Amino acid sequence: MLNLILMGPPGAGKGTQAGKLIAEFKLPQISTGDILREAKRAGTPLGKQAAGFMDSGKLVPDELVIGLVEERLEQPDTKDGFILDGFPRTVAQAKALDEMLKKHGRAITRVVLIDVADRQKLFDRVTGRWSCPNDGSVYHVKNSPPKIAGKCDKDGATLIQRADDTPEKLTKRLSEYEAAKAAVVHYREKGLVTELDGEQSPDTVYGLLKKAVGK
Ligand code: AP5
Repeated sequence: MLNLILMGPPGAGKGTQAGKLIAEFKLPQISTGDILREAKRAGTPLGKQAAGFMDSGKLVPDELVIGLVEERLEQPDTKDGFILDGFPRTVAQAKALDEMLKKHGRAITRVVLIDVADRQKLFDRVTGRWSCPNDGSVYHVKNSPPKIAGKCDKDGATLIQRADDTPEKLTKRLSEYEAAKAAVVHYREKGLVTELDGEQSPDTVYGLLKKAVGK
């Protein structure tokens, strides 16, 4: 059973690595960023409440994010394991997650922190990122370009850039990340954290990740 959390700064490669894991092991990926962006696009009450925070690079309030994860973890496809990407980000979220899993006799089995110490690399990755609006596939203009420029390899959709992927908003997101590092400490105290060097190629990081989760 793999109940995995992927942590790391914006642009560390959490989504990229989760994509590789789901392709190989068919586990559901629960990305709070993706769920919130979808809610925002669809104009749901959650999306409307979250939009201002996301657009300015701030964290969305705990109560909104905790509720949506709790609902998602109730879905039957998570019963054989899951990959949490971008959640929890605060100690309150981590404690709430522990509680909701405990209710169902479950627990987090591993936390992988993908770190990228060179902040310039994060700026290059985030400002060069393009993604598919339909299936969320992630590309990078230089590091992993699509076969046809501007089009998704899988469904041919026109790729888009995220509203928060500007240098100014990334600066804010990075400071929010630094301020919220206590969530990592929460899991470190439980002996669950493996730290990986995310500055290597996506395939090298994936090899290390599989080793960290015993696959
Ligand atoms: P979220 O969507 O979670 O964004 P993030 O944490 O800032 O992370 P990113 O999606 O930017 O980066 P990533 O690590 O997934 O990198 P990726 O694989 O795409 O959150 C967005 C917002 O939602 C937050 O700011 C907040 O407002 C809100 N939110 C979400 N969760 C929340 C929570 N729990 N609590 C409160 N608010 C929350 O890779 C990036 C680029 O780099 C890609 O182009 C990729 O191709 C490239 N790349 C990846 N790996 C490598 C590599 N090894 N080498 C070279 N290039 C690489």
